[in-house]
Amino acid sequence: MAEKIDKITIFGLGHIGLPTAALFAKNGFNVVGVDINQKTVDKVNSGVSSIMEPGMDELVKEVVSKGNLRATTQSSEASKNSNVLIVIVPTPVDENKCSDLSAVISACHMIGNDLKKGDLVIIESTIPPGTCEDVVIPILEKNGLKSSIDFKVAYTPERALPNNTLFEMTHNARVIGGIDSESSKRAVLLYEKITEGKVIAVKNLVTAEMVKLMENTFRDTNIALANELAMACESMGIDAIDAITAANYHPRVNIHTPGPGVGGHCLSIDPYFIVEIADKKDNPAVLIKTARDINEHMPYHVAEIIKKTLAEFNKPLNKSTIGILGVAYKANVADARETPAEPLIRALCGGGGEVMAHDPHVSREIIENMGASFVEFEKALKCDCVVLITDHEEYYNITPEMIENSIFICNRPILDPEEFRKQGVIFRGVGRL
Ligand SMILES: NC(=O)c1ccc[n+]([C@@H]2O[C@H](COP(=O)([O-])OP(=O)(O)OC[C@H]3O[C@@H](n4cnc5c(N)ncnc54)[C@H](O)[C@@H]3O)[C@@H](O)[C@H]2O)c1
Repeated sequence: MAEKIDKITIFGLGHIGLPTAALFAKNGFNVVGVDINQKTVDKVNSGVSSIMEPGMDELVKEVVSKGNLRATTQSSEASKNSNVLIVIVPTPVDENKCSDLSAVISACHMIGNDLKKGDLVIIESTIPPGTCEDVVIPILEKNGLKSSIDFKVAYTPERALPNNTLFEMTHNARVIGGIDSESSKRAVLLYEKITEGKVIAVKNLVTAEMVKLMENTFRDTNIALANELAMACESMGIDAIDAITAANYHPRVNIHTPGPGVGGHCLSIDPYFIVEIADKKDNPAVLIKTARDINEHMPYHVAEIIKKTLAEFNKPLNKSTIGILGVAYKANVADARETPAEPLIRALCGGGGEVMAHDPHVSREIIENMGASFVEFEKALKCDCVVLITDHEEYYNITPEMIENSIFICNRPILDPEEFRKQGVIFRGVGRL
């Protein structure tokens, strides 16, 4: 059966969709990418990657020039000529922290319009448990074809790490669930063509949907525990980083690192999908929701540390300049989606502070949209209070002499507090004394 699968349409050419499309194309499949963004389509068709990711520029150039990958905004022709249709569109949460499935729904309607007997539809977008059965399949069946009988359905989540996406996509274990065993078998054979990692078939669609959410919920909840321990330690005069480092020598303990909050497109969103469905099933996911609340509170906790420290030195926030170092949600990436830097900047600006931010990876436009002015590294260091949010490599070489006004709120454990304190710098931060 797998030998017949050689034409693939991928809906969504973003951070996950484009590398997936390019990897299938590199492995000999004829791939068409459908995206609603004309600029993305034009870029890909000219052989240029629309995402910043190591290895992608070369890969897109190669597969487009060989004719194995092309992009379009028109789904119909692509779908009619494909027998595998993969959905990798965004699934954010709305203002009530409920899943916004509009892009998945729209892509499934496009697929449903041209679905044929024998097609395999695969959903890769991260979705709440039950979405394939309750939302996706009814749309795909709208023209009378029956899932399992006429067409196959599988779900496989993606877990690639930004900056290492191509390696992880081709080496990480992959989980696949199908509406029936034939669906998962076809999907397993397909993904085995692009990965050296283990491909694990789980019992059904909903199990595969849940696996992805469990992974990110584990990490988010562990970080929330670290953050709660850090705040408790601060109030007890204990350096939480030292304490956690020592605790982790226990062979069965692995407390994550506390920090200014959790951002990105996965950890800060996916747990809400479990909370949403657990609520609907009248079985509230109390711990998971509490963990989210703790992590969402962290930027405001950092704002409190800043205000309190400035006040000790007779510098009210509304007469102070704050230099933020790093607005990306994690180290060495340009991605600022859901970054804790944004609520922090807004809270500080709301309190009358003059906030300047530097980030070697994130654009001026994104920083200004958060409400801060975009400044050079040296200018941020001259502010009344310097606040490190992201542990970009560029910040590992900060020395006490560089902190001009001697107040440094460092929220990532990349620098030795004692080195700074010895030189008279006030060194504080999440989990620090
Ligand atoms: N980025 C990650 O690190 C990551 C990791 C694992 C899983 N995921 C999941 O993968 C999915 C996609 O995420 P992403 O980061 O690639 O998103 P993205 O925002 O980078 O890209 C999504 C693309 O889909 C396009 N799009 C939107 N609606 C569309 C539609 N109806 N039809 C066709 N194209 C459409 C957009 O124009 C965009 O190019 C999400 O569910 C996300 O949670 C992301």
